[in-house]
Amino acid sequence: MKALVITRFGGPEVLEVQEAPEPEARSGQEIVQVEAGGLNFADVMTAQGGYPGTPAPPLVAGREFCGARQSDHQRVMGYMQWAAFAERAAAYSELLWPVPADWSAEEGAAFPVNYFTAYFAYWKAGLLGEAGRGARVLIHAVAGGVGTAAVQIGKLIGAEMFGTSSSDDKLRRVAELGLQHGINYKHQDYEEAVKDLTHGEGVDAVFEMLGGEHTMKSVRCLRDFGRVIVYGTATGKQSEVDTRILYAKGASVHGLWLTYLSQKRNLMEEAWKQLSGWISQGHLRPIIGHVLPVEQAADAYRLLVEGRNFGKVVLRMK
Ligand SMILES: NC(=O)c1ccc[n+]([C@@H]2O[C@H](COP(=O)([O-])OP(=O)(O)OC[C@H]3O[C@@H](n4cnc5c(N)ncnc54)[C@H](OP(=O)(O)O)[C@@H]3O)[C@@H](O)[C@H]2O)c1
Repeated sequence: MKALVITRFGGPEVLEVQEAPEPEARSGQEIVQVEAGGLNFADVMTAQGGYPGTPAPPLVAGREFCGARQSDHQRVMGYMQWAAFAERAAAYSELLWPVPADWSAEEGAAFPVNYFTAYFAYWKAGLLGEAGRGARVLIHAVAGGVGTAAVQIGKLIGAEMFGTSSSDDKLRRVAELGLQHGINYKHQDYEEAVKDLTHGEGVDAVFEMLGGEHTMKSVRCLRDFGRVIVYGTATGKQSEVDTRILYAKGASVHGLWLTYLSQKRNLMEEAWKQLSGWISQGHLRPIIGHVLPVEQAADAYRLLVEGRNFGKVVLRMK
């Protein structure tokens, strides 16, 4: 079968569409005929050899997909750690979810990682339910995959959202989704902007996926008892936090990793119950900025590496 193979660790140039062996379903797994795959920043890190737990190359890339389950032909969207960008994938049944009837395969492929991650960010921030109403949230990379999902959920719970991006055009498009305060960090320091926009008070939560100096800057954006949810290091730099700043306002820093949480069955079921409820009410719909054939995977990866994507980048398998 055809598959996108990471031939060695490196940049997008290491990706090649090749013939690969058919996947074998282990206990608890099912074979899915893949139509489309959702590209994640984690796939970029995996190709670079910087994602924890990645086996040595050659390996098949991809962690989320949409397609037809071979056993009953039902359309499903799913999540795994690698080997999703192939004509067929073996995935755990409990990490497969039915695709809403009016969604395309691209939309299905764009759902699992972004929406579960965004949901868990609000959960870790303690803002699901009534606590979210009027709460202030700063979302970094607000125009990206997880960012646009976080805006849709934030709007649902009634949060006041602040979001960062490198582009006014991207911010204008996220404003249409409900973002109230867009901050272009190329033109304005976001810490200063948050201070101004909140009359010096700060926000209740920051969704922080940049690492380096941004974790500390994000903590400084918090108001009393605020929480920074750390879930990535897109800058490639390790976070540095002087924990003394946390004492001052009773603030805290929380970690979030979907790879780990996806193994917690009860948590995932609870999240899906809420997310599928919102989907059936028509409130959630993945934002897709780019669809490319798998043969152009290197270009797709470059969109993410260079921060040129809006919303999700999707690869068509056929
Ligand atoms: N822990 C978890 O379980 C988990 C799950 C999903 C995602 N993540 C993390 O969440 C982040 C977003 O993931 P995603 O797949 O949704 O990607 P994405 O947000 O769609 O794309 C990355 C965006 O980050 C922004 N960015 C800022 N600084 C960057 C830099 N130095 N290099 C590249 N991009 C930069 C760019 O937007 P602007 O130009 O608009 O700033 C870019 O479009 C990543 O850090 C990812 O690792 C973590």
